[in-house]
Amino acid sequence: MHAQPWNPDIAAGIIARHSHAQDALLPLLHELQAEFGCVPEAAVPLVALAMNLSRAEVHGVVTFYHDYHRTPHGAHTVKLCQAEACQAMGARDLARHVEARLGVGLGETTADGKVTAQAIYCLGLCATAPSAMIDGKLAGRLTPARMDKLLEALA
Ligand code: FES
Repeated sequence: MHAQPWNPDIAAGIIARHSHAQDALLPLLHELQAEFGCVPEAAVPLVALAMNLSRAEVHGVVTFYHDYHRTPHGAHTVKLCQAEACQAMGARDLARHVEARLGVGLGETTADGKVTAQAIYCLGLCATAPSAMIDGKLAGRLTPARMDKLLEALA
């Protein structure tokens, strides 16, 4: 399904369907994301009000779960492992390199909608750290130069 542009009426309908239930926050956020391609900033106060939570609490949940995006996802996804074994092998520097190259932080999407960069915490590829997953494909022993090549290959 293609993500719809933000629409407060559609959002209100989704929120109303969930707001009666306890434990509904995650399914509600999930449905908002399915509709809009992300959990839009504008939805946060509406969700907070309906679920009797503070905006900070809703924000906290959206940022805690890496499956939720605050902006629509790009055509390509670059997930950079930031867990311990990869960090020991330079994952932070690699992430800074990717962020500088794409002009976005982890968790964000380039302005042209092409690439979403994300942090991920262990891909099970610790032996070849630093590791990443690009459009579902694993890559290890990454250097900035190798990363550049992989990014260039994204059409
Ligand atoms: S810590 Fe990065 S793949 Fe395990």
